[in-house]
Amino acid sequence: MKITLSTIKADVGSVGGHLCPSPEVVARVREYLEREGGGLLIDHYVTQVGDDICLLLSHREGVGNHEVHRLAWEAFRVGARVAKEEGLYGAGQDLLKSAFSGNVRGLGPGVAEMEFEERPGEAILLLLADKTSPGAYNLPFYLAFADPMYCSGLILSPKMGKGFAFTIMDVAHTEADRVIELSAPEDLYDIATLLRDPDRFVIEKIRSRATGEQAVACSTTRLHNIAGRYVGKDDPVALVRVQRDFPAIGEVLAPFALAPYVPGFMRGSHYGPLMPVPEGTPVSFFDGPPVVMGLAFSIHSGTLTDPVDVFAHTFWDHIRQGAAEKALELRRQGFYGPAMLPFAELEYTGIMERLEALEERFFLR
Ligand code: 13P
Ligand code: 13P
Ligand code: MG
Ligand code: MG
Repeated sequence: MKITLSTIKADVGSVGGHLCPSPEVVARVREYLEREGGGLLIDHYVTQVGDDICLLLSHREGVGNHEVHRLAWEAFRVGARVAKEEGLYGAGQDLLKSAFSGNVRGLGPGVAEMEFEERPGEAILLLLADKTSPGAYNLPFYLAFADPMYCSGLILSPKMGKGFAFTIMDVAHTEADRVIELSAPEDLYDIATLLRDPDRFVIEKIRSRATGEQAVACSTTRLHNIAGRYVGKDDPVALVRVQRDFPAIGEVLAPFALAPYVPGFMRGSHYGPLMPVPEGTPVSFFDGPPVVMGLAFSIHSGTLTDPVDVFAHTFWDHIRQGAAEKALELRRQGFYGPAMLPFAELEYTGIMERLEALEERFFLR
């Protein structure tokens, strides 16, 4: 049976700054889905990390479906209304357009969707990150889908040994979606050349070359490109199908132990380590560090089991400790050099205005 999973996330307001949504906002979003989603959805799950709320929707309507997107949009609108009533910070932050126009893409919320033939024992991983941008998944997914040092399945399983095809988007191109498909292992160095720059190139999809089946869908929204100004970081979601001809769940999780430095953190303008955290963890230190949470589900005829909170395991306490140390180490040098994003990626205009004002005070000697 073909089913579709749609993950749609938005920041509709948070308590005390960009920390976390209020329980009432999340409850009302959930309530709306339960009340209105009946005829359309097979199942759903509502979760949160940092100041973002994420809806996982299972249905049979295919990718980009008008009614499914409208349902999510209206659920977030309800959340934004409650956030406003409660006086939350940034109420409605990611709902950048006032009117719904058929699809939430381009309206602010982040979207990752996949339609697939459900396998017996279908297993998926939902990843949700806050205080970072879609390129945050570049390195973990490269390592999990193309590097046998991290994913031994690439040499142990004959089907996985055929490699994976990466669809990579140039997110700096705003007029249209500019994408390229490259295949591992032949194009490994080309893939690495693009993925090394998470601000410009972002994994959109990965599929198995043995079966053609899609394994990964990532959100590629750039709020900056939609609004033309800073309104928050892009806080990406991703869906990963795991096991059998895809990497095992543990192979997808393993690279997150690197806690790689990613763009984001305070004011979306710094680098910080991506810390794997349990479901619902707020952010804190320097509006961060950037966080990622993961929920693993099994699916039967589109119905979701209760999830396993993959980063709640005690193993990750050690990784979190290391990530905190990495965060402190880089924070020690404040604004200097690689602690802060390059000019072109800064989410605030202050520095550029300052540079412009200094122009006339420079002189040639
Ligand atoms: P199975 O061979 O039991 O499917 O397990 C493979 C696996 O996922 C190991 O990590
Ligand atoms: P969010 O994108 O998570 O709203 O964070 C914005 C910010 O500026 C944090 O310092
Ligand atoms: Mg926010
Ligand atoms: Mg956020």
